Amino acid sequence: MRLLQVILLIFFVTMCTPRDGNVQKEQGVIPAKVDSLLALMTLEEKIGQLNMYNGTWEFTGPVPQDGNSQEKAKNIASGRVGGMLNVLTAKGTREAQKLAVENSRLGIPLIFGYDVIHGYQTMLPVPIAQAASWDYEAARLGSEIAAREAAASGIHWTFAPMIDVSRDARWGRIMESAGEDPYLSSVMAKAWVEGYQGDELSDLFTIAACAKHFAAYGLAKGGRDYNTVDISPATLYNVVLPPFKAASDAGVATLMNSFNELNGVPANGSALLQREILKEGWGFKGFVVSDWGSIGEMITHGFAYDSTDAALKAIVAGSDMDMESRIYEKALEDLVNQRIVSGALIDDAVKRILTIKYELGLFDDPYRYSSEEREKTEVGSKENLEGVREVARRSLVLLKNENDLLPLEKNVSSIAVIGQLASSKDVPLGNWRAQAVANSAISLLEGIQNAVSASTTVRFAQGYTLVSGQRDFVHKLNVLKGDRSGFKKAINLARQSDVVVLALGEDCYQTGEGRSQADISLKSNQEELLTELLKVNKKVVVVLMNGRPLAIPEVIQNTPSVLETWFAGSEAGNAIADVLFGDYNPSGKLPVSFPYHVGQEPLHYDRKNTGRPVPNGFDSGLVFWSHYTDIPNEAVLPFGHGLSYTSFEYSDLKISKKGDGVEVSALLTNTGNRKGTEVAQLYMRDMVASLTRPIRQLKGFQKVSLDVGQSENVNFVLTKEDLSFYSTKGDLTFEPGAFQFWVGGSSVASLTGKVDL
Ligand code: NOJ
Repeated sequence: MRLLQVILLIFFVTMCTPRDGNVQKEQGVIPAKVDSLLALMTLEEKIGQLNMYNGTWEFTGPVPQDGNSQEKAKNIASGRVGGMLNVLTAKGTREAQKLAVENSRLGIPLIFGYDVIHGYQTMLPVPIAQAASWDYEAARLGSEIAAREAAASGIHWTFAPMIDVSRDARWGRIMESAGEDPYLSSVMAKAWVEGYQGDELSDLFTIAACAKHFAAYGLAKGGRDYNTVDISPATLYNVVLPPFKAASDAGVATLMNSFNELNGVPANGSALLQREILKEGWGFKGFVVSDWGSIGEMITHGFAYDSTDAALKAIVAGSDMDMESRIYEKALEDLVNQRIVSGALIDDAVKRILTIKYELGLFDDPYRYSSEEREKTEVGSKENLEGVREVARRSLVLLKNENDLLPLEKNVSSIAVIGQLASSKDVPLGNWRAQAVANSAISLLEGIQNAVSASTTVRFAQGYTLVSGQRDFVHKLNVLKGDRSGFKKAINLARQSDVVVLALGEDCYQTGEGRSQADISLKSNQEELLTELLKVNKKVVVVLMNGRPLAIPEVIQNTPSVLETWFAGSEAGNAIADVLFGDYNPSGKLPVSFPYHVGQEPLHYDRKNTGRPVPNGFDSGLVFWSHYTDIPNEAVLPFGHGLSYTSFEYSDLKISKKGDGVEVSALLTNTGNRKGTEVAQLYMRDMVASLTRPIRQLKGFQKVSLDVGQSENVNFVLTKEDLSFYSTKGDLTFEPGAFQFWVGGSSVASLTGKVDL
């Protein structure tokens, strides 16, 4: 056996001469190598490649004596495992890799995956914040930094980006998404994939990306995580799938399917999604990994009788790798031997996985990513910190700024910084924080202290208590509502200071997986504190920290200035101070609508008109139109909204036919007294179609920087495809007729015109 192993290893090494992944791809070398390797594999070894384990112990030490770990170690050593997740550090991944490569018959390397969602150790703003930058380069740079750190620690593959279109603020994972819009999500999907993967998977500083969750996980009923999804084919094709198509077109290496059922079929068992649409329709060449244990959950869904049935349904439907349900390893061999599952189906899945391993260069050197030296210099480097600060400041959204209260003068004589969130060095790190060191973020308080002049007095009061020992149990937070013990100090400070900076929002563990909430207002007694502070000082700047749109109409209405900062990452405090004191003129825009009330959810700007839209004369006393009788239909803060310290005006709209498509342009002018950057947005409505179309759809945006008084033409060209929509069968369809366009700074832009096409 040993001799055979040596011969096989020599065989692989000689087959792996070109070291550049792209060269191998272009010359068609990888497919040939995959075929040769496949020909040597037993059925058991093939099924091993489809099997992914969680790393339940630190590989730097001995295998624990418990049965589970012992069995896993044995299976890794005998080639019955293709990938692992949560194996960490350069040293740990090296040891785990050794176990596979040096012991198994063919020495096939493992692929190591990890949830690097918004950074590895140096934390970026959470994904929804990055989307709020509406900035391709910022999003790309962010995932490039995350990839560099992860790759240096032996990680080959991130389970990101999450590109589930998310339009329900109750859903805790809205924080991991690019928000409510399919177009913006598609742009971000591409940027994130490019950032993680670079030009070459074989590059030592890049990792394979994984677009997730395929599909429709973000549209769970009631915003409750893992809940049923029941949507029309039109919604599937027009809303859910475009970001995944964009990721696939951008060359994403892998996709993760989802926990939810979609119209009665769990995603793992959906041949429509995984085979027809993804692999056959889009020509996706990578592999699909299941979500954690989700192949097994098909039994719980009531879709599969038992493990064998679940394995059969998943492999037939196109789920290639089984993450931790340990069902493929148990059931697939028998299914193939009994000729219920064809060998070709297994071969296809194995080939897809081996191809990515070749592209990552793992057959050239299985340890190439596990470099302790690189880990030391790369992880947490100064450049990475500078990079995340830049991404963070681009992610902040100025929601309101009455009487130009912001930016503040750096030499203001006194500032009261109030709120537990303001002093937290942990909350800005967000949920899904990978290897971030607890309490390592720059807090808002520190950021302000770093920015102000030597003569400024900065004093802090906690005010309310939000972050307690019970971070996962939000309902307990309301117990803290009655605790006003911090109010007195806060009110006194506010009274004695020139200006108040009050941090309000959520603990970072209020959003994330399994963190859905039925109530999306502020927890604890934050609003009450704000009311008290405003009584003694009108100059209150609210700095929001949150992972979801909040229902806080009164906060917005009553506070002169509100800055949305999400969970802004390791450099949060410094980035926020950059904006508060005007070193950076804010340019972010909301990727999600902020509601008046949770009862409006799911709330999104691209709704349909209905047969009974707002009647002329809102107050006409009419009742029988589509509305709520107690709150407006609209958002408090609409999708696309975001202010700057300067002002912008749009004029001179021009719409003309261009080939099969249309060209729309407008003149954008900086009418304020500061240089600034605006995200000019283009919205469209297809007036009449065989499937009703939304009243507005984002069709393009451009980030434009203008000096005081400067004007620039923003120009959008839409092709026939851009003007089309997907039919219920998934065909892209253009229907001639009237189209209306709007250009402006948000989804309620008023500069508009029509064209007949
Ligand atoms: C479950 C989550 O849904 C998924 O997004 C994540 O990547 C896996 N767990 C692995 O941690």
